[in-house]
Amino acid sequence: MRLWGPAVLVILTGAVRAEVLLSEEEIQQTLSFGPWPPSFQSDPSNRISNDARAIALGAALFTDPVLSVDGAFSCASCHDPKQAFTTSDTRALGRVLLDRNTPSLRNLSGLRWYGWGGKSDSLWAASLHPIIEEQEMAHNKESLKSALSESSFIDDFEAIFGGIQSQDPELVLVNTAKTLSAYLETLVTERTQFDDFRDALERRDLTEAAHYPETAQRGLQLFLGRGNCVFCHNSPGFSNNEFHDAGVPYFLNETEVDEGRFGGLNFLLSSAYTLGGDWSDDPDKRGAWAVRSVRRSHSDFGTFRTPSLRGVAETAPYMHNGSLNDLDAVIRHYSEIDTERLHTDGEAILSELNLSEQEIADLVAFLETLSNVTRP
Ligand code: HEC
Ligand code: HEC
Repeated sequence: MRLWGPAVLVILTGAVRAEVLLSEEEIQQTLSFGPWPPSFQSDPSNRISNDARAIALGAALFTDPVLSVDGAFSCASCHDPKQAFTTSDTRALGRVLLDRNTPSLRNLSGLRWYGWGGKSDSLWAASLHPIIEEQEMAHNKESLKSALSESSFIDDFEAIFGGIQSQDPELVLVNTAKTLSAYLETLVTERTQFDDFRDALERRDLTEAAHYPETAQRGLQLFLGRGNCVFCHNSPGFSNNEFHDAGVPYFLNETEVDEGRFGGLNFLLSSAYTLGGDWSDDPDKRGAWAVRSVRRSHSDFGTFRTPSLRGVAETAPYMHNGSLNDLDAVIRHYSEIDTERLHTDGEAILSELNLSEQEIADLVAFLETLSNVTRP
């Protein structure tokens, strides 16, 4: 069925000429990146998901050092709300320098896996681990319970969960993480120039769509076509939320590697905090099939979760180890990718693109329209 006439519309306004360059097929593919924002779905594994008091408490705890054992730092020290919930550091600095870059925390509601290696299958578990990780906030259940009991948050905590003294310390830990998760669920990136373009295409308003810069349109065409970026960066969040080797070296030094998904699965499969476990509030244990059916395999080594590209211009540096400084460097990385190094079984999808300077600039311009900021 042919819904549209020729997708090219030329508007002549004085000397300015703007047009929609996309083919019918490219337009249909573009529609799959929306609508945005997605409708809110509360988390069945978290009984205080979408609860206003829990969101407020989670927001307050997020920026307070009470969640680290010696009061040294807060979640916001690494996930700075003023810097798109990350920092410009290459790798996160906790009690030691961590191996990985800090991800932004927006658009996390409803994903199947969390973390670069997918070591959590819920947002509350991903919020719980940093509190007790040795290298991060280093609390244990008991120290967290006593820190909270003595803090100014105790009244708000007890208003939601009842008296703290009668609660098992592990329950206090899980409840705390669930308030953080309720807060993080509310963090969604704004609509952007790209969303206006996409919605105009859906309404078949080519005059409006033609306001989207041609350089970004050409970048989008490469993203969908020769670059095949859409194979992994798809759906409204621009991620399939699965694990791949995108050609970033995963050696930490001469003898150690970042195990990526392999390590994430090792962690997940022995964790008490999964959707299949006792701490999920969902009587039907929805989503638990994923953790129950997942298996480790050698090809998981050195693969990482595909990051969302929404808001990406605000979160340099890039990749799991922060090794690429800007979007230009990321595109050059894909353009010159060393396919010899890639997992032979997985990633036949990536190949050297040998992009021209113009094509690199076009792809960067496209990625920038997924944020509301432009390069300084
Ligand atoms: C020392 C810096 C640091 C601190 C402090 C920190 N984080 Fe993180 N956070 C990271 C890094 C690095 C990752 C990626 C970890 C990984 O995947 O191995 C991450 C990942 C996450 C994720 C998963 C994001 C995704 O895209 O899947 C969530 C959720 C999160 N952190 C929440 C929190 C919360 C809540 C706190 C406070 C209790 C916190 N973090 C404290 C550095 C930090
Ligand atoms: C095979 C799946 C796959 C394909 C195809 C792919 N990517 Fe990626 N992309 C990933 C993964 C996985 C990462 C994270 C890799 C890592 O950290 O080691 C990533 C990282 C990125 C990042 C950095 C995001 C951040 O927050 O650090 C950008 C930007 C990006 N890709 C853009 C693109 C573009 C543009 C293309 C097409 C030229 C593309 N990707 C093709 C899977 C893919």
